Amino acid sequence: MDIAVIGSNMVDLISYITRMPEEGETIEAPDFRMGCGGKGANQAIVSARLGSEVVMVTRVGDDLFAENTIRNFAENGIATTDVIKTPGSSGVAPIFVDPKSHNSIIIIKGANNQLSAADIERASERIKVCKLIVLQLEVPLETVYAAIEFGKNHNIPVLLNPAPASPELVLEKVKNVKFIVPNETELSLLTGMPVDSMDDIKNAAQVLLGLGIENVLVTMGARGVYWLHGEGEQFLEANEVDAKDTTGAGDAFIGCFAHMYVRTGDIPRSIEVANAYAGDSVTRLGTQTSYAWKDDFAARHPGLLH
Ligand code: RIB
Repeated sequence: MDIAVIGSNMVDLISYITRMPEEGETIEAPDFRMGCGGKGANQAIVSARLGSEVVMVTRVGDDLFAENTIRNFAENGIATTDVIKTPGSSGVAPIFVDPKSHNSIIIIKGANNQLSAADIERASERIKVCKLIVLQLEVPLETVYAAIEFGKNHNIPVLLNPAPASPELVLEKVKNVKFIVPNETELSLLTGMPVDSMDDIKNAAQVLLGLGIENVLVTMGARGVYWLHGEGEQFLEANEVDAKDTTGAGDAFIGCFAHMYVRTGDIPRSIEVANAYAGDSVTRLGTQTSYAWKDDFAARHPGLLH
């Protein structure tokens, strides 16, 4: 096994809108798509499509969506042993994408709220053999802290994507992760610092490094990624692309970064490939529907994966 993702899954209900309705107003939107999503599941699917062996620890409801989500994991080569059925609703995410391809997302966590430290223990034999644990914040924070502790106790590096941003996250409890990967908004919320300029971003990232976190990767959308670590810093630019839908691009970056890091141990190279993979994903509509399989991505970016 390569990567353990301990996190969320959602059903994405994506409306392509011309504008948001005013209060009390009904407006028509030109298009709608439903698909599998959730930050944890998205990151797991990307790593699996690129060829990593992925353990997914997550909870689905006992509704119609659950079977579809479980089938989706299986079809992407992810074992469903640790996808636990839970009474009640699966996680659901109504998403609105405007004509500029900007998105607004509401999440209803449903079964994801029940993912617990006991679920990590139940999956421990499968997680223990992984080379990286990947976490996000769409499940209870206590579960995130337990997963970080698990990684520390078993000497497995942990990557934390602090998304969606949570003001309740206790930084002291996440200082043992090897990678923290916030976007600018999340970085600002985590540190309580502004991120209006590159200097602001560097200062805020420095606070996370100061906690003892080894690598801070600030994802900056179309601009690229700022990487701060113990020996220095680097800004890795993203490729210019014609964006159609940026939903899930951050997850595309993380899933690809995790895959590359586990394969190569080479952080700047992993960032470079993940930038290209995320850029590739925004040229197509949807969340997981926009994620390329290994061969398609390799064909569009010769020489990058190997
Ligand atoms: O990061 C994108 C994801 O955020 C969507 O798939 C949605 O489900 C929410 O979790």
